[in-house]
Amino acid sequence: MESKSIDTVLKETRSFAPSPSFAQQANLSAADYERLWKDAQAEPVRFWEHAAKNIDWFEPWTKALSWEEPFAKWFLGGKTNAAYNCLDRHVANGRKDKTAILWEGEEGEVRKLSYGQLLDRVSQLANGMQKDLGLKAGDTVAVYMPMIPEAVVTMLACARVGVTHSVIFAGFSSSAIHDRVLDADCKAVFTADYGKRRGKKLELQPIVEEGLKGVDCVQHVVVFRNEKNSPLGSRGVEWQALVDKQSTKHEAVSLDAEHPLYFLYTSGTTGKPKGIVHSTGGYMVSVTQTAKWVFDLKEDDIYWCTADIGWVTGHSYVVYGILSNGATALLYEGAPNYPDWGRFWSIIDKHKVSILYTAPTAIRAFMRAGESIPRKYKLDSLRLLGTVGEPINPEAWIWYHNEIGHGKCPIVDTWWQTETGAIMITPLPGVTATKPGSATRPFPGIVADIVDENGKSCAPNEGGYLVIRHPWPSMVRNIHKNPDRFKDQYWSRFPGLYFAGDGAHKDENGYFWIKGRVDDVINVSGHRLGTMEIESALVSHPAVAEAAVVGRPDELKGQAITAFVIPKESADLSNLAALSKELSQHVVSEIGALARPEEIKFTRTLPKTRSGKIMRRLLKDLAAGKQASGDTTTLENPDLVQLIQ
Ligand code: WTA
Repeated sequence: MESKSIDTVLKETRSFAPSPSFAQQANLSAADYERLWKDAQAEPVRFWEHAAKNIDWFEPWTKALSWEEPFAKWFLGGKTNAAYNCLDRHVANGRKDKTAILWEGEEGEVRKLSYGQLLDRVSQLANGMQKDLGLKAGDTVAVYMPMIPEAVVTMLACARVGVTHSVIFAGFSSSAIHDRVLDADCKAVFTADYGKRRGKKLELQPIVEEGLKGVDCVQHVVVFRNEKNSPLGSRGVEWQALVDKQSTKHEAVSLDAEHPLYFLYTSGTTGKPKGIVHSTGGYMVSVTQTAKWVFDLKEDDIYWCTADIGWVTGHSYVVYGILSNGATALLYEGAPNYPDWGRFWSIIDKHKVSILYTAPTAIRAFMRAGESIPRKYKLDSLRLLGTVGEPINPEAWIWYHNEIGHGKCPIVDTWWQTETGAIMITPLPGVTATKPGSATRPFPGIVADIVDENGKSCAPNEGGYLVIRHPWPSMVRNIHKNPDRFKDQYWSRFPGLYFAGDGAHKDENGYFWIKGRVDDVINVSGHRLGTMEIESALVSHPAVAEAAVVGRPDELKGQAITAFVIPKESADLSNLAALSKELSQHVVSEIGALARPEEIKFTRTLPKTRSGKIMRRLLKDLAAGKQASGDTTTLENPDLVQLIQ
């Protein structure tokens, strides 16, 4: 009989208890945690009511939650402003001269903006938006900008006025701009003449011009100019000129808690991108509380999240959650390997970064380049490390822990999604004992579970579907203009539960282990295998830097496993057939014969999305000997794989 759940095959037994010295200074104490967590599971709304005190309200809310599945409203009647919470209240409370944004460019240029300066700049742009551009609360604009402080200024100015922003990653094509601007009915687009990457100029304004052909809703294109005479285009206004002439006095608009702060389009694997709608009040409550505890933010921390502002991680944990806590956020405009793979470590030493939040895909790239590179740096300012975006393979976790954290920094492996707005499953540093590859436990107030095909809770170690049982403040409110798709996408699979699309299991300690997207599950002779565990077994071999496994049709077994493997720089590739056999055997000894890859293809690249996720859908086509099908416009690297012959 075919088993319906997802098998749990990899056993990771290493565990890292919090160090007493970290625990002693942590924002959340271990003594308080257990009780707080249990209470929050039983009464999540009460937990979030309490968390709502972390932000300032212009008018108090009267009811915490109204829930008409799948539509939630949080903090009803409350009025607030996200930019006010990120700026004004800190300037008023002694952080006027504290650095809010610490920016480094690719050539090593540095710019610092204090909270006072950032508030002035944001106020000026807010005035410009209202007075010169005629924008008002309820309008929508697109932001297509590089990782420069002005991108953050633009987002916060929108938030200040109540203009909903739709940030489009500044590497997407003109057609991506076209579709997103039309879908959101944008009145203006904020861009720059160009961004900088690997010593080259990345043109932006010309791409916007192209994308706006035949688009009537856009009245203004506001261009940040790196060069005085860069073209502005027919609807163009210079960003600096618009801002410079305005007063620095501006009163943040009082907005309803449910006012849409932003739309963020996620490119699904097929079909039209979905405009994920986020709120103001609930969103700010969630990101502020999670950032405070997960990153343990302190007054003198230098916090660096390497995500681009074009992704949700950039929204929640470069901008809103970090600035609302009054912390210092580092921004780097450039590539991680420019001029070489030591760039991140040199930035950390130079600016004394204390908290680093990055993606497993980056960690695996650093591993591949070899540990001799980070060993050239001190890295002694670091006290906390985080990851997000994909499951982290235990070997990559251990590498990060040893080579970057020097064995003394807790690692927070944070599971969440564009749709969840804030971190959902995560260790709390100083509190949670961590296990490499596990995101550990749900954040207090998040009621997560693993269910089987029929929506019944799974037993410990039984693989199933990751769901959320109770609404949370930063949850996606809708898909813009498409409530039917919203219901269908997230709420139809299991009635009453939010289904995230990921497979997972819980171990006997209640720790969550994410197995990857359920669409990628491989079915070998009736055993349903998640991609993460097989890939982790491969990555635990000393010759392997990165691996992606997919199923290809097999007459006998239903599916057979094809593995795409990127070898480490140090690996001996003189006999690929022998290495291939050795890797297959390694998987068999780590997991068992059913997970044996039938075929191993050695490659130098894997197809990835712009945010670094492996696109297994394309590999599946290649493994089956087909042409890659479906949407490939969000691909980072145009060559799908470069096989090593
Ligand atoms: C995956 C990024 C395992 C997962 C914030 C999720 C993870 C998707 C983790 C959302 C993690 C993210 N462990 N898997 N710590 N973090 N994912 O919308 O499949 O870009 O559903 O949001 O990334 O990706 P998104």
